[in-house]
Amino acid sequence: MASESPLIMIAESPFMKKLLIDLDKIAKSCASVFISGESGTGKEVVAHAIHYRSTRSTEAFVKVNCAAIAETLLESEFFGHEKGSFTGATCRRFGRFELASKGTLLLDEISEIPLSLQSKLLRVVQEQEFERVGGSQLINVDVRLISTSNRNMKEAIENKLFREDLYYRLNVVPIHLSPLRERREDILPLSDYFLKEYDLSKTFSSAAKQKLLDYSWPGNIRELSNIIQRTVVLSSSSLIQADDLCLEPQQVGSCAKKIFTLKQLEKRHILDTLVAHEQNRTQAARALGISIRTLRNKLSTYTQEAAKDQIS
Ligand SMILES: Nc1ncnc2c1ncn2[C@@H]1O[C@H](COP(=O)(O)OP(=O)(O)OP(=O)(O)O)[C@@H](O)[C@H]1O
Ligand SMILES: [Mg+2]
Repeated sequence: MASESPLIMIAESPFMKKLLIDLDKIAKSCASVFISGESGTGKEVVAHAIHYRSTRSTEAFVKVNCAAIAETLLESEFFGHEKGSFTGATCRRFGRFELASKGTLLLDEISEIPLSLQSKLLRVVQEQEFERVGGSQLINVDVRLISTSNRNMKEAIENKLFREDLYYRLNVVPIHLSPLRERREDILPLSDYFLKEYDLSKTFSSAAKQKLLDYSWPGNIRELSNIIQRTVVLSSSSLIQADDLCLEPQQVGSCAKKIFTLKQLEKRHILDTLVAHEQNRTQAARALGISIRTLRNKLSTYTQEAAKDQIS
């Protein structure tokens, strides 16, 4: 039985709704998943969701942040070590692979691991066995791997910074998370969710909502969460006004400065109109001057496009 993920996942955009459906299928398999996307797009949240939807949900979910651990300690962190295997190894220590046995291991920011460790990792991924540092006993593990990166992995491979064979082993099921500016229907639901987290008594004015929608969110959902928290701390009124939102000035309106194709502009206008009419398609179609059927067809095209972008 799957237990609940400790992390909430807001999913209102067609992109995220489709992802939720895919996650259930992905969770059922044991295939390695590679989650890419800009910083703050929710890669860790999605990794949690996969684990907690899978049959491994009652087992451990172990995370190793490959960027935060010194290169010299990474091997022991992954595979553990035997007592006396190096200065300071005063007792046997289990590595993250052993701790994640029967569960899921999240290799966060995988692009940051050195090449020397990549070959050792490849062996474990292929054979599901390894030795602890300084040990000779073969240890077998059954671990589902989820890797994340905000780097361009193709570039890292071309520059010989990441092994291609390892990448393809880890990337059996690829998930690419779109930046928040490309799934704008999630902005207000996420804003409301964070606002309730920080202060139940506050709400956004219409102008504040519009300002949130107009911002390009270079730092994605993490930036949104930080800004709402900062706003709640600094504003004294229960109605949050546009001026209360301290967004980076150079980012405001940057979406408007970017050159869009006519098709992209149309999509943006349609989605904004839906948001303005609280997803009521009849009212949105009327405001747009198109039939409800045309609106439905366009939305279905967006969903199909999002699905293609997601698993490609
Ligand atoms: N769909 C979502 N619903 C609610 N909160 C979310 C969602 N996605 C992300 N968050 C929140 O946004 C923040 C950033 O998410 P997360 O750490 O998963 O991003 P990330 O892609 O791993 O970022 P980084 O590349 O910087 O490590 C977290 O506080 C997370 O809880
Ligand atoms: Mg992360």
